[in-house]
Amino acid sequence: MKKFLFLSVSALLLAACGSKPKTAEVVEPKLCDAFPDYTVGVAINVNQSNQKDAEGVAIIKQHFNSIVAENCMKCEEIHPEENTYFWDDADRFVEFGEDNNMQIIGHCLIWHSQCAPWFFVDDKGKQVKPEELKQRMKDHITTVMTRYKGRITGYDVVNEAILDDGSYRPSLFYQILGEEFIPWAFQCAMEADPDAELYYNDYSMAQPGKRAGVVELVKKLKARGIRIDAVGLQSHMGMDHPSWEEFEASIKAFIGAGVDVQFTEVDMSALPSVNFGANVSDTEEYRAELNPYAEALPDSVSAVWNERMTTFLGIVDKYAKNVRRVTAWGVTDADSWKNDWPIKGRSDYPLWFDRKGQMKPFLVDRMKKKGLM
Ligand code: G3I
Repeated sequence: MKKFLFLSVSALLLAACGSKPKTAEVVEPKLCDAFPDYTVGVAINVNQSNQKDAEGVAIIKQHFNSIVAENCMKCEEIHPEENTYFWDDADRFVEFGEDNNMQIIGHCLIWHSQCAPWFFVDDKGKQVKPEELKQRMKDHITTVMTRYKGRITGYDVVNEAILDDGSYRPSLFYQILGEEFIPWAFQCAMEADPDAELYYNDYSMAQPGKRAGVVELVKKLKARGIRIDAVGLQSHMGMDHPSWEEFEASIKAFIGAGVDVQFTEVDMSALPSVNFGANVSDTEEYRAELNPYAEALPDSVSAVWNERMTTFLGIVDKYAKNVRRVTAWGVTDADSWKNDWPIKGRSDYPLWFDRKGQMKPFLVDRMKKKGLM
């Protein structure tokens, strides 16, 4: 507001001085300028990276300095058959980031979900042998990272491999290779692009069991001289989770283990929680009472939601010197996966811009505090 006032007065003064006022260019404040200590990112879908969603693209370009591909770099999308890669969407995504001078994040190289089925089946239709699976992981990681070498800042090398109790998810990677699949993935990534940052990424990271499991994983990698630069706390939150005390304990534990932290998939469901996790395959049946704000979010709920998001950012800022990035998992509420997960067909309000593309109050307040509005 102050900036706008300044420009109007200048124009009047110029006019008063008899010279033709130059049309003062009104500089729109940028959200990322309110986060000087770390990058502020957003997950973008193919309609945005392919420039079809003009409104979404305008918000991304105006407010964010980092992007991550919501889906187009996942194994099933980019490497659908053993000898077939589909690069178009990932290329558009990377070019979008380069054209807009943004930090570009690769999500994700090794994940139990959305992994192309061929990955685990040999040419005789049997389960692939350990050595063959290691070779396939190496080929996938090396091919993707080589194509985008020097263009992608960092990768979620392994995603969601530890359960809430700290044990290893019994994925096919784990069943075939045991714990070794994780060091192997990071080793392959280190060799493929020595300059790329390498992350372990997971949800429900405020769970004490998962915290302990991830700390142990980080320490094991480091003890073997395998580089891991940061741990990603996805931060899929709700009105009743996570406990801020546990959330902060996890941040401190990961930093204490010798890695930075980043908040990689931030959203906060405004709806009744039925699932505190983010495991894509955990879904529930639709029940009207679980979709209470089908038309709009009541102001009273919105006020609590914005307060919780302010608390979240307050905790993040406390550890800013070890925070690399905060990324919203989508542009506007309409884009969010939470409208259809864990229950299809709900209206949720989890992101930083509403369905009209308006920035939400917790961010407007932050920008005003920083003198940007
Ligand atoms: O692209 C196809 C489209 O051609 C088809 O018509 C349509 C209907 O079946 O499906 C489309 O693919 C969907 C894709 O999103 C793109 O919209 C997949 O079915 C759907 O499963 C996929 O969901 C994504 C989910 O990961 C699974 O990959 C969500 O958008 C995405 O937000 C979610 O993100 C994950 C992170 O990668 C990892 N952390 C958890 C997070 C939430 O599950």
